[in-house]
Amino acid sequence: MGVLMIDVNGNVKGSSVKMNEDILFCEKLTDLAKHNRSEFLHDFKQAFFEIYGKTNTEVVFFASPARVNIIGEHIDYNGGLVFPAAIDTYLYLAIRKRNDSAILYNDIRFPGEKKFSITDSFAYKKEDEYANYLNGILKIMKDADYVFDSGFEILLFSTIPAGGGISSSSALEVGFAYAISETFHFDIDRITIAKMGQQSEHDFMNVKCGIMDQFIIAVGKKDHAIVLDTQSLEYRFVPLQLNDYRIVVMNSNKKRQLADSKYNERRSECEKGLAILQKNISEKAVLDRKIEALCELEVFEFEKIKTIWEDSLIQNRVKHCVYENDRVKKAVTALENNDLSELGQLLCQSHESLRDNYEVTGIELDSLYEEAIKNEGCLGARMTGAGFGGCAIALVHTDFIDRFISNVGEAYTLKTGLCATFFACMAGDGVSKLI
Ligand code: GLA
Repeated sequence: MGVLMIDVNGNVKGSSVKMNEDILFCEKLTDLAKHNRSEFLHDFKQAFFEIYGKTNTEVVFFASPARVNIIGEHIDYNGGLVFPAAIDTYLYLAIRKRNDSAILYNDIRFPGEKKFSITDSFAYKKEDEYANYLNGILKIMKDADYVFDSGFEILLFSTIPAGGGISSSSALEVGFAYAISETFHFDIDRITIAKMGQQSEHDFMNVKCGIMDQFIIAVGKKDHAIVLDTQSLEYRFVPLQLNDYRIVVMNSNKKRQLADSKYNERRSECEKGLAILQKNISEKAVLDRKIEALCELEVFEFEKIKTIWEDSLIQNRVKHCVYENDRVKKAVTALENNDLSELGQLLCQSHESLRDNYEVTGIELDSLYEEAIKNEGCLGARMTGAGFGGCAIALVHTDFIDRFISNVGEAYTLKTGLCATFFACMAGDGVSKLI
């Protein structure tokens, strides 16, 4: 077993017989991870021993899920409600303590060992690539006075598409933070783990993300979504009862160019929108209460005062936030009432607002959306996650999934020249130790 040569965009580098073996090994592991976890763990453990050798210290395994957001997009940094679920696609992590102070990382999909030490101060370095996600967590832990009594070695294997918009990076941050907390007996609670992941993303990766992704990966529960109030962090589980329907994830396979800078740009546009609102409240009393986050505004209030945002771009950003928050409440009710048609309609409205008011979709996600909703058996669809490429989801009847995938796939390639990938998912558990 070697490591597969794939660059950060998912392209295979170079070519050799050895590499073909590595590709086959990765494919085998991906397949086992899906269909036979105990065999997967056996092979994953063998790979760990090939890299690090056998010692008397136990190797411990963790699984950290991807997520889909059913609805409530780009409002987790505006105090809104979001409705995500962890899904049954995982990043796997094996960890073992060492007798010295070295920290070693290997990832079956990426070449080369990364080496650090518990005495490092851990700063972001571009050339450290994926290790930055891990080192960001270590820095936060060290700053919070958690003490490492030894080094450790890590092996990673992820079946979550990198940069695909279903939170491969949060799965890594949260999975790693949880594994470290368990291994070193730090006993950090799940919500603090989520916050550490978010902080690492802010400070280390310079993406000013909300809390949604790390939160659902930390607390998710099989067959459930959560409705999360991102202002108070109160949440509750909602059974994801989809009867004969499934959530089909559609990966545009569009590389997310400049996604991070556009994400931060949207965030600052919302901050501008909020500042204008607060100024108009204090100077002109357009509302008779204080507002701390855009999503505190009700739809009727927005409609009454919307001319205070003279710049139509800012007005549209605010409009998206206010209406999207309202849609989340309606979507939770629809699901609880078993009204999947209503849920599907809300998904479509969400996509259209993200396309027209928030402008984070693009030709690829719009094409997936348009093609998806043309299909018999599809109740609704929308982009999920940050947008600018990445994934969309559709609510599709099980009898029609195969036809849906072939229709949408074909039309998408004709429109964009790209090849989309699809999978139906179920809600899975949040990060967990595997026994
Ligand atoms: C990314 C961020 C989340 C959230 C979504 C958009 O996934 O990490 O915090 O803002 O985009 O809803």
